[in-house]
Amino acid sequence: MQITLGGLVMKNPVAVASGTFGSGREYARLWEEGSTSQEPTPLSVLGALTTKGVSLEPWSGARGVRIAETASGMLNSIGLQNPGVEAFCVGDLAWLATQDLPVIVNVCGRSASEYAQLISRLETEEAVAGYEINISCPNVDCGGMAFGTSASAAAEITALCRAATRRPLIVKLSPNVTDITEIARAAEAAGADALSMINTVAGMAVDAKTRSRVFDRGVAGLSGPAIKPIALYAVSRVYKAVAVPLLGMGGIRTVVDAVEFLLAGATAIAVGTASFTDPLAAPQLVNGLASWCRDEGVHTIGELTGALS
Ligand SMILES: Cc1cc2nc3c(=O)[nH]c(=O)nc-3n(C[C@H](O)[C@H](O)[C@H](O)COP(=O)(O)O)c2cc1C
Repeated sequence: MQITLGGLVMKNPVAVASGTFGSGREYARLWEEGSTSQEPTPLSVLGALTTKGVSLEPWSGARGVRIAETASGMLNSIGLQNPGVEAFCVGDLAWLATQDLPVIVNVCGRSASEYAQLISRLETEEAVAGYEINISCPNVDCGGMAFGTSASAAAEITALCRAATRRPLIVKLSPNVTDITEIARAAEAAGADALSMINTVAGMAVDAKTRSRVFDRGVAGLSGPAIKPIALYAVSRVYKAVAVPLLGMGGIRTVVDAVEFLLAGATAIAVGTASFTDPLAAPQLVNGLASWCRDEGVHTIGELTGALS
């Protein structure tokens, strides 16, 4: 079940998606309480844990409604609320360091230099196995346009982050672009070790009664089963466009969902929104994937990557 994702060794290909798993503490407790066997499931069954987005300074997040349910998914506008890197290191990372699994820190910022400064700060922390760069944040130096929607901005931010670390650097792509392969190639050329995809799909919700937008910002991010076909298509196109490995996500809940992403070209996968409906979705996937491989005569999980006929 072991795979390597851009230099990051994972004992199995199952990670959890940023922002849907906090820093793991609450889930660790739920896994303990929800375990039916005598041995509680430790977080270390995961191939890797991706933290919620962390920024240099504390961010207070979005005002008003932050989540809304949709048919087959959910919309969120959390606004990347987080306590900032110093509080993260003391409160979350120190605890994660005791959990015996690779920790990928998801980094966000308002300017390219903020990302690089944040990584430089995290370089002093031994518990960090790698970074996932969320390039869907608005770039204040560029009129608030998301870094991830322009190949040149994606390349610039990747290059600055690359210069700040030798640890595995995963660039997380947004699906809200005209051609995701163009951004993928730009990130690869600028030094990304791996790409993760997809971030949430832009959407909105309207309250008919009050004739108003549900989310203060108007736009929100759609996730869950509704976006799986979009994510699969993105993974399959990017797999053909770049040589670096891919971390696939978007609506993954079952073993078959995960296998579909691997076949489309992912080397590893992440469980996101599914953890909200079933907090044990990720560890069940770890076990289920191993059984599936045994039943199907798959000797190493890597055989499945890109193996679409
Ligand atoms: C509530 C929520 C918060 C999220 N926060 C982040 C974040 O901080 N950074 C990030 O890169 N992606 C964030 N995401 C996106 C997820 O990591 C993932 O890319 C997306 O939800 C698609 O996967 P899913 O359909 O399995 O949830 C968030 C998603 C949700 C639902």
